[in-house]
Amino acid sequence: MYKILVLVTFVAVSLTHGNILAPKLKLNDGREIPALALGTWLGNNTKPSANEVELAVGWAIDAGYRHIDTAYAYKIEDQVGRGVASKLNGVPRSELFITTKLSNSHHARDAVIPALQESLQELGLDYVDLYLIHWPLGQFANLTYDFTDYLETWRGMMDAKQQGLAKSIGLSNFNEQMIDRIIDNGLEVPAVLQVEINLNLQQPELLHYCKDKNIVVMGYTPFGSLFYGKAKSDAPPPRVDDPSLIEIAKKYNKTVPQITLRYLIELGVIPIPKSLTKKRIEQNIDVFDFKLTEEERTLLKSFDKGYRTIPQLKWLDHPFYPFKKPLNL
Ligand SMILES: NC(=O)c1ccc[n+]([C@@H]2O[C@H](COP(=O)([O-])OP(=O)(O)OC[C@H]3O[C@@H](n4cnc5c(N)ncnc54)[C@H](OP(=O)(O)O)[C@@H]3O)[C@@H](O)[C@H]2O)c1
Ligand SMILES: *[C@@H]1O[C@H](CO)[C@@H](O)[C@H](O)[C@H]1NC(C)=O
Ligand SMILES: *[C@@H]1O[C@H](CO)[C@@H](O)[C@H](O)[C@H]1NC(C)=O
Ligand SMILES: *[C@@H]1O[C@H](CO)[C@@H](O)[C@H](O)[C@H]1NC(C)=O
Repeated sequence: MYKILVLVTFVAVSLTHGNILAPKLKLNDGREIPALALGTWLGNNTKPSANEVELAVGWAIDAGYRHIDTAYAYKIEDQVGRGVASKLNGVPRSELFITTKLSNSHHARDAVIPALQESLQELGLDYVDLYLIHWPLGQFANLTYDFTDYLETWRGMMDAKQQGLAKSIGLSNFNEQMIDRIIDNGLEVPAVLQVEINLNLQQPELLHYCKDKNIVVMGYTPFGSLFYGKAKSDAPPPRVDDPSLIEIAKKYNKTVPQITLRYLIELGVIPIPKSLTKKRIEQNIDVFDFKLTEEERTLLKSFDKGYRTIPQLKWLDHPFYPFKKPLNL
């Protein structure tokens, strides 16, 4: 009797704490993308330690993550590469989906492929699954602006795809008008748009636009201002101890961060939760065994205040700054 109980408990634990595979979404180029990704940005001025991201990527793959989001600008592509390599004996490369991003310093058309080759070298890979233009605006390493038209940058991305260095290509931090301009010029429709999406910035019009164009949306900073340590003083609610969110979490035996990730998934968005903590990494992918009610989704929608946590105001004076300028500036 005791043995059976132990066995049942063991099976249940391994089901909830190992290999939870996210479903996949279809891209407009015919490929598929896992519906949740691990984030790997350490924050503004954080100096990466030798192997913290490498460990996180390994734990994530063990937990069932098959999609990792990184960027040249994060300066940890080498760690992502080592984390991936450490698991390749159990999970073949073809089952993994690796996303990285073109640095603002390489916006000239003929600078794109060399930039991607540098990322691939760091990652220890011979292709990425998805390559994104990180921002529509160019800026050289010496911080002077590069006014290269992003149409030229996008042509460079199309070159990279044609050479097989990136299986799919997309954009990050572009607005609707910019995407329209790419499409109206007869260039390839991007497969993905990665933008900030969280409870305080749900961007319903942009999501509608992307659905209409068959562009899959990845949502960065999915926790927004949920955690006290990160929320600025002017950030709207909710925080992680919000009673209405705790009530929903209790109902499903989940945590408040899991409820927010589930909500984004139900909006059709691929959330990119970042964590370096093993338990949280495991928790953040454990969001595919329940569904919110319409009433709960209505409550979660009410937190949308159009509040952006990453406005990058330092680039406000670049002609390709993508966001609505704040009224007080
Ligand atoms: N395209 C772009 O321009 C752009 C911009 C920003 C971000 N991104 C991408 O999106 C990813 C995510 O965004 P982000 O890193 O800004 O923020 P985020 O994922 O919303 O929040 C990360 C923070 O939440 C904590 N956390 C994670 N899971 C938790 C849980 N279950 N319970 C409690 N705390 C938890 C993490 O702590 P610990 O790590 O200490 O566990 C970390 O401090 C980035 O890493 C990056 O890959 C892209
Ligand atoms: C990053 O730095 C900017 C200032 O350059 C600051 O306003 C912002 O809060 C910082 N973001 C994070 C996530 O630390
Ligand atoms: C900054 O770098 C760019 C590209 O390398 C170069 O063309 C430009 O002259 C540099 N500007 C200054 C002020 O150093
Ligand atoms: C609630 O979730 C925790 C963590 O996933 C799990 O250990 C526990 O067995 C769950 N309880 C019930 C009643 O399902």
